Amino acid sequence: MMFKKLFSFASAIAVLATGAHCQQLSYEDSITALAYGNVATNSSSVGEVWLNITGFAADKLPHIQNDVGIYTLDNRETLTTIAGLAQVAAQQGQWGDIVFLYSAFAMNGHSEYFNASSLEMQQALLYAVTDQTRGEVDSTLIKLYASTSSSEYLTEAFENLKSDTSSQSKRWVKEACSSAHKATKSACRTLLENVKGNVTWKSGGPRSICKSGCCISWSANATFQVQNLTNAANYCLNACGTSSVSCEVWGVKLQGTLVDQCLSNRATGCT
Ligand SMILES: *[C@@H]1O[C@H](CO)[C@@H](O)[C@H](O)[C@H]1NC(C)=O
Ligand SMILES: *[C@@H]1O[C@H](CO)[C@@H](O)[C@H](O)[C@H]1NC(C)=O
Ligand SMILES: *[C@@H]1O[C@H](CO)[C@@H](O)[C@H](O)[C@H]1NC(C)=O
Ligand SMILES: *[C@@H]1O[C@H](CO)[C@@H](O)[C@H](O)[C@H]1NC(C)=O
Ligand SMILES: *[C@@H]1O[C@H](CO)[C@@H](O)[C@H](O)[C@H]1NC(C)=O
Ligand SMILES: *[C@@H]1O[C@H](CO)[C@@H](O)[C@H](O)[C@H]1NC(C)=O
Repeated sequence: MMFKKLFSFASAIAVLATGAHCQQLSYEDSITALAYGNVATNSSSVGEVWLNITGFAADKLPHIQNDVGIYTLDNRETLTTIAGLAQVAAQQGQWGDIVFLYSAFAMNGHSEYFNASSLEMQQALLYAVTDQTRGEVDSTLIKLYASTSSSEYLTEAFENLKSDTSSQSKRWVKEACSSAHKATKSACRTLLENVKGNVTWKSGGPRSICKSGCCISWSANATFQVQNLTNAANYCLNACGTSSVSCEVWGVKLQGTLVDQCLSNRATGCT
């Protein structure tokens, strides 16, 4: 659905890539700059941004078939730019680029996670090539994505994904804390500052709130006040990790609706 309209990203990308000096970067240069982590975002704008992918090229993107919506407290321009680049990638059949952009988007476009060699991005890329029910890494997809990436950094990152990595399929099933998709606790505490005591009503999607490198997400539509997310998020901060946290809590009651609530580096943790 989102791929119908070509988004013009000329001005936004000048903000994104350092050294651009207001010149428009080509699509390929943009991907390369992003995948190298050569990104300076300076935005503080709040808003809702979507990257809709449901039903798009299900054979090429079998493990990332969910729309991602983020209510970002600080990074609207970057997310809009990434969504625009994803549209170009879709038109060009650059599947590796789409996986990268989708992953960066889902992590609130947080600049530290862009670098294709960052642990966070590697885990996100790995997720996109893993059959979650069987816990198997699909080497055919790795080859497809490596050959349809516009940046050598990205191609390398796909090729280096270990196909024998231990199964992620049991993630969240028994334990509340996870070692994947961790967000720094300092970022989560900043997010919590906006959440606790916040009586704003929330209903329907997007089912996530992000700030800096941390996101709270939940598994089902519910109508509640933002501050109702505080308890489970605090639980995660106390129960998991030392300086970083990735966590899911089952059966959180949001003014009557039972949901699973996550605290991690991505908006898709609980969807
Ligand atoms: C994206 O999908 C969500 C629901 O999944 C919908 O609310 C939103 O309007 C869609 N946005 C676009 C631009 O298609
Ligand atoms: C991205 O990561 C690689 C490998 O860790 C590093 O060499 C490179 O300097 C990083 N890029 C930036 C812009 O920090
Ligand atoms: C970000 O932009 C604001 C004005 O929009 C400026 O005051 C601030 O210095 C900028 N910060 C950085 C790190 O560029
Ligand atoms: C409360 O949450 C909403 C998001 O639902 C956000 O727009 C607003 O800025 C938050 N308020 C405070 C004081 O952080
Ligand atoms: C959740 O709410 C959004 C609107 O915000 C809607 O597009 C979506 O269909 C709803 N999902 C379900 C499962 O009801
Ligand atoms: C949700 O927050 C409201 C106040 O905003 C409070 O009255 C209510 O008890 C909370 N519900 C839950 C289940 O935490």
